[in-house]
Amino acid sequence: MALVNEHYLKLSAGYLFPEIARRVSAFASEKPDLAKEIIRCGIGDVTEALPASAIKAMDAANDELANRATFKGYGPGTGYDSVRAAIAHGDFRSRGLDVADDEIFLSDGSKGDCGNILEILGAGNRIAVTDPVYPAYVDANVMFGNTGAAMAGGGYEGITYLPCTEANGFLADVPAASAPAPDVIYLCSPNNPTGTVMDRARLEAWVAYARKHRALLFWDAAYESYNRDANAPKSVYEIAGARECAIEFRSFSKSGGFTGVRCGYTVLPKSVMAYTRAGDAVALHGLWTRRWNTRSNGVSYAVQRGAEALYTESGKREVAALVDFYMENARILRDGCRALGWKTWGGENAPYVWCKTPGSFDSWGFFDHLLRNARVVTTPGAGFGRCGEGYFRISAFNSRANVEEVVRRLGRV
Ligand SMILES: Cc1ncc(COP(=O)(O)O)c(C=O)c1O
Repeated sequence: MALVNEHYLKLSAGYLFPEIARRVSAFASEKPDLAKEIIRCGIGDVTEALPASAIKAMDAANDELANRATFKGYGPGTGYDSVRAAIAHGDFRSRGLDVADDEIFLSDGSKGDCGNILEILGAGNRIAVTDPVYPAYVDANVMFGNTGAAMAGGGYEGITYLPCTEANGFLADVPAASAPAPDVIYLCSPNNPTGTVMDRARLEAWVAYARKHRALLFWDAAYESYNRDANAPKSVYEIAGARECAIEFRSFSKSGGFTGVRCGYTVLPKSVMAYTRAGDAVALHGLWTRRWNTRSNGVSYAVQRGAEALYTESGKREVAALVDFYMENARILRDGCRALGWKTWGGENAPYVWCKTPGSFDSWGFFDHLLRNARVVTTPGAGFGRCGEGYFRISAFNSRANVEEVVRRLGRV
């Protein structure tokens, strides 16, 4: 008898985005004439074409594959050396941060990495996430058996939720000394969904906390290229001691527009340890290398060449222009919401604007209201956790014309 992974059966009914899609398609079938006017600012998917340097590099890679003399078969599971070197230099060493080439692990995107990393950790770790949170962290931990059952009002038993509210500026603080310490803490900055960025002092407190409790920080920097706040670390390794306790996740999805191309990477310093039940320290770097070499043959050759090209002078200019474009969208959305008197966060160092729902609407109520009356799709804050109730997220990933139209329509509801 084949046994099922019963942890999957704990997953609560809908991942957020399928539920949004269900509501949008119900509205579209009910009002087919209005459906074509719908503007989607819900899911954070990029809209603009890839940087020319990436296209050129991928075309050249395909030409190499088309020729027997330059053909490439299986590559190293953790990524080609030249790509790992371009990343380690471009994102870290050129900024004075100590990261070696072989501490970079290429992948098909950081969503997978944020869950796959759990494979090299033991069962029974207590996981902490922020509330609201990017839902993929939670669902991956449910699948791995790191939680109990789904709870009635949202969330899962066994997870430590770190409340992010207006009171703390939607930034997670370290737990009180009296609270049980989590073993693994997911932090995301610039944050999805709130668009806030973690300040240096808070991150220093988290690194000190993790070292004190021999815990791990999972620092998700998928939106790092949007962070222009000099007081907000772009990499966790800007903080002294982070090389002992932090793993960083990065993605080319929102910097290079690679959401469909698929490429990201994990930074795992050789000095990051986890412990056996007997208390012996084990370096995770070797385990993660082994995991990749056993479970994967790596990212496709052309895609790696495309990612590498983002670190050339032209690639860097093109990425900066793409990010500037979406950040101008974010500014327009943020200013538009503020002009309506809505309280907002984010949108300055992140492509998301986080708003308080006006009047007496709850998150899903306002989602439906905007869908029906403005034909604009947003993301209800409640879908990201209990503390997200009463808020909604607008994504800046859209054409300029759509963003301007969204602001006009919001003004009419
Ligand atoms: C916080 C966060 N981390 C990771 C990802 C996943 O990125 P990727 O496309 O690299 O899998 C996303 C994508 O939306 C995200 O919002």
